[in-house]
Amino acid sequence: MATVSFDHGVASGDPLNDRVIIWTRATPSKKETFRVQWTIAMDENMETPVESGFVQTNQNSDYTVKVDVAGLNPNTIYYYQFKALGASSIVGRTKTTAKEGKEAVKLAIISCSNFEAGYYNALARVAERTDIDAVIHLGDYIYEYEPGGYGDTTLGPSRTHLPAKEIIELSDYRTRYGQYRMDPDFQKIHQAHPFITIWDDHEFANNVYQSGAENHQLEEGSFAARRAAAKQAYFEWIPVRESTDQNIYRTIQFGEVVDLIMLDERIVGRTMPVDSASQTNFQAADRSMLGADQLTWFKGQLSESTATWKVIGNQVIFSLMDLSWRTPTSPYNLDAWDGYPYEQSQVTQFLATEKITNTIFTTGDTHCSWAFEVPSDIAVYKENSDNTVAVEFGTPSVTSANFDESTTADQVLKAEKIFVHPNFNPHLKYVNLRDHGYLLLTLNQEETIAEWYYVDQIKERTSKEQLAKRYVVKSGSNKLFSK
Ligand SMILES: [Fe+2]
Repeated sequence: MATVSFDHGVASGDPLNDRVIIWTRATPSKKETFRVQWTIAMDENMETPVESGFVQTNQNSDYTVKVDVAGLNPNTIYYYQFKALGASSIVGRTKTTAKEGKEAVKLAIISCSNFEAGYYNALARVAERTDIDAVIHLGDYIYEYEPGGYGDTTLGPSRTHLPAKEIIELSDYRTRYGQYRMDPDFQKIHQAHPFITIWDDHEFANNVYQSGAENHQLEEGSFAARRAAAKQAYFEWIPVRESTDQNIYRTIQFGEVVDLIMLDERIVGRTMPVDSASQTNFQAADRSMLGADQLTWFKGQLSESTATWKVIGNQVIFSLMDLSWRTPTSPYNLDAWDGYPYEQSQVTQFLATEKITNTIFTTGDTHCSWAFEVPSDIAVYKENSDNTVAVEFGTPSVTSANFDESTTADQVLKAEKIFVHPNFNPHLKYVNLRDHGYLLLTLNQEETIAEWYYVDQIKERTSKEQLAKRYVVKSGSNKLFSK
């Protein structure tokens, strides 16, 4: 008789006003198919169950279990648990979204959680919070590299990547997700809050696009097979709702206050990056970040939204950024929206001409913190700083290396000063290239407050964090005020 253990904890995700995904993995002693019972209840002792059922699992889904529990009440905290073959999982906590009403919404925004680069102190701090509605992970949930291929491995063998190679096949991606989800702080944050996730590149391979990636070589086999394997493991291990077309761009509504619009800027529509802005096709209309279908959908979501705020789950920096002090001949981050200028201007023009207000881009990818007023043109903004179409907040990495790990403290401070210098980027109000942590957004009818919380370090498990910066944007303004 097989036995089961719930070694990877529990998770929940993609809350709506009547449903939420609940997740676990039941690790069996023998490879066979078995039934897992799930229960969702009003209390953490599971004494007031409201729904329960059974679901089968086996190696076809890597023994993961995902249930989309429907028929729930809006804006309500629920608890959930799984049982199989005499074993019980820990009890998870989750929350459905509000169907209507003007209650404030609080979102913790995280990205870039490289296991090898450090301990997940930021995840532990978010797990302890009791005031947030959901955690938004903007991607780079895992990293695909071999041990030491990207991060710091000085933390020793307990913090090096498994399998001990670059992940390429389905079993590799599954093992890597399993390793990340054995981390106690990753388990705590999933146990405490529903997640709303989007993938960035490293869930596949570095700088991935529709048909290839910088970190995918011919000798590693078919890219399509690798992409399919990475996608399958993602849907198995992440509590995301799976649509029939396996696209993950979607909108999640929080009452009348927030429409959270999650974008896929990697897999569904991103064409090959250019190596330099002087390449002849740099501005070409057929180079896309979202692709035609997603762009049409995105514009529709923006114009149809009746919520006070439209929060965009955006992977790479949307705002124009002048890097001419660093790379004079090609002064753009070509992996970000600046590398896809035609589509970037399609979005800014749409926001401007349709007079769409209260759009907030939330951004991961860079491992650094940013606050922008988003202009349609930097030169015009220099003359008139009311020339804005949105604001953008970048969240620092949970652990992944930023400038601090690669340069001296002096050089970091110098770089921060140059980034925000008004000659280059007058619309960039705040940058921090050195700390790790998370971004907290509090949104209500009148204003949105963005707060950057930094942990004191990532090389040891510690419990210190500090509120380092706060910016406020008033409804209707696209202007940032430090407070
Ligand atoms: Fe990253």
